[in-house]
Amino acid sequence: MKTITTLSDLRAARLSLTGTVGLVPTMGYLHEGHLSLIRRARVECEHVIVTIFVNPTQFGPTEDLSKYPRDLERDLGLIEPLGVDLVWNPSAEVMYPSGYQTWVEVEAMTRPLEGAMRPGHFRGVTTVVAKLFNATQPHKAYFGQKDAQQAAVIRQMTQDLDFPIEIVVCPIVREADGLAMSSRNKYLSEAERKAATVLFRALSAAKDLYEGGERDAEKVRGKMKEVLAGEPLAQMQYVSCADYVSLEELREIKGKTLLSMAVFFGKTRLIDNFVLG
Ligand code: PAJ
Repeated sequence: MKTITTLSDLRAARLSLTGTVGLVPTMGYLHEGHLSLIRRARVECEHVIVTIFVNPTQFGPTEDLSKYPRDLERDLGLIEPLGVDLVWNPSAEVMYPSGYQTWVEVEAMTRPLEGAMRPGHFRGVTTVVAKLFNATQPHKAYFGQKDAQQAAVIRQMTQDLDFPIEIVVCPIVREADGLAMSSRNKYLSEAERKAATVLFRALSAAKDLYEGGERDAEKVRGKMKEVLAGEPLAQMQYVSCADYVSLEELREIKGKTLLSMAVFFGKTRLIDNFVLG
């Protein structure tokens, strides 16, 4: 496994890979969720490239860029046994040299949900992912359903910009008590960590309601709010019951539907989602 930091080294190493290449973009501080993407890529592709880059342009001015957890040695130790060919770990200067001024922006579907709460976030994500695609030239790229809107936006960008890349979206990996794995979980105090199961509980309650025949989206959103309100450490930011493709809020549930939410525990913001239908 080679760890590379410059674009010229990456290009040279990429040229030496013949056969199918799978890309797994990450911001590091890896957990089982990330590793599940790498394992899937390993099974489906002849070569695997993992990128570790905490992308500054997707963090808002009040967000946790400087505090984002980083531990490259630990990450490399986790990746090494998985049979990864290349790890690309560029600096911010390599990705955004001085004078940088080009952005990739997906329009309508970045407006609701995470896009509404985190202005500019998806512009940063799509720009860096487009650059990672150009640099690594993969055949397939692997993303997690954990960030459902991100996966949908990247799929749209890939189609709109004619990247010859198959986007593979992998299921959410959860802790035993249902909490979705996230690099941000490490910020939670012991009490917040216990309280954080409320996301899974709220989504499960909403799904039960749906499976009992409820199709009024407002009632399903109401159920998620009710469960979240029962947890004093949880501060709801939004709950959503939206069309899976357009991400627009529904009145009546028909077809594939995304239930999603963002909830604060102190300063830590967690997101989670279920797909219905
Ligand atoms: P990061 O948060 O490090 O996540 C990297 C990938 O792992 C994303 O596709 C994310 O959806 C997936 N992932 C995270 N937690 C998961 C879980 N519990 N189960 C399954 N998959 C999970 O998402 C980003 O980085 C960045 O926005 C990035 C795409 C790298 C662009 O900077």
